[in-house]
Amino acid sequence: MQKSQEELINELSVVMERFTAQSDALELAYKALEIQAQQLKKMQEEVNQSRVLSALGEMAATVAHEIRNPLSGIASYTSLLVRNIPPGDPKRKYVDKIVGGVNSLNKIVGNLLVYTKKTNLQKQSTDLAVWAEAILAHAEIEIENTKKNVSIERDFPEEPLNAEIDGDRLQQVMLNLLINGIQAIETEGKISVGIRSNKNFAEIIVADTGKGIEPEHLKDIFTPFFTTKEQGTGLGLAIVKKIVDLHEGEISVESTPGKGTKFCIRVPI
Ligand SMILES: Nc1ncnc2c1ncn2[C@@H]1O[C@H](COP(=O)(O)OP(=O)(O)O)[C@@H](O)[C@H]1O
Ligand SMILES: [Mg+2]
Repeated sequence: MQKSQEELINELSVVMERFTAQSDALELAYKALEIQAQQLKKMQEEVNQSRVLSALGEMAATVAHEIRNPLSGIASYTSLLVRNIPPGDPKRKYVDKIVGGVNSLNKIVGNLLVYTKKTNLQKQSTDLAVWAEAILAHAEIEIENTKKNVSIERDFPEEPLNAEIDGDRLQQVMLNLLINGIQAIETEGKISVGIRSNKNFAEIIVADTGKGIEPEHLKDIFTPFFTTKEQGTGLGLAIVKKIVDLHEGEISVESTPGKGTKFCIRVPI
């Protein structure tokens, strides 16, 4: 029996519908595949970059190590020179410049060694408010040296909050954040330090009312050697990130140019 034209058209439209549905599904699958390919490419780029970074890191560590000895030689000979120059002698000015230069080189080399050294944490249960208070004493001295009018505000929990941390390492983190905050403030402003618990984490917040970070710089600030300062090393936040990572913690930043910057560190309690 022959099919009527109507029946044929019906069958055809069913087949067409199926075909359209399948081609839609195919298109979706293709898009998903494309996204995965992009992700794969990005991961590959990241792996390559981290290889380059780790090779660079090793080189930096070797160079820093090699520079250290001659540098301490220069430092001790300069201090001998200083002894033989009476105060008030114009030569003194030049020697003082050498001393200043050597000091800043020492700082860079020290930072590089900290950044590249394989470090094991010495974790201990620590009362965060007590720990932070000791660090803020250092920050106060730093503020006095700058002659800026910077106040420090504390927002600490009423009950002691303990976390398993390497206090010395994390002190370096806090100091780097505090010093960046002080440097970001031009003449007067406020630095707020907060400590609080959030689920299984302790949060440590360092906020300043300084000049803020341009949005296009935000992605670079934790990269070694990124700096916008004439005398900067660009290693402070790289060290911060490294130490927070060692604690299996997280760090986040919010910043508004002209208003200020807020860093939040989370470490497991
Ligand atoms: N609190 C802050 N306010 C404004 N900018 C900041 C702050 N902290 C970091 N930055 C920006 O991030 C850069 C990198 O900081 P860091 O790694 O500590 O290096 P450095 O302080 O030597 O420049 C700084 O040069 C600055 O541009
Ligand atoms: Mg810094």
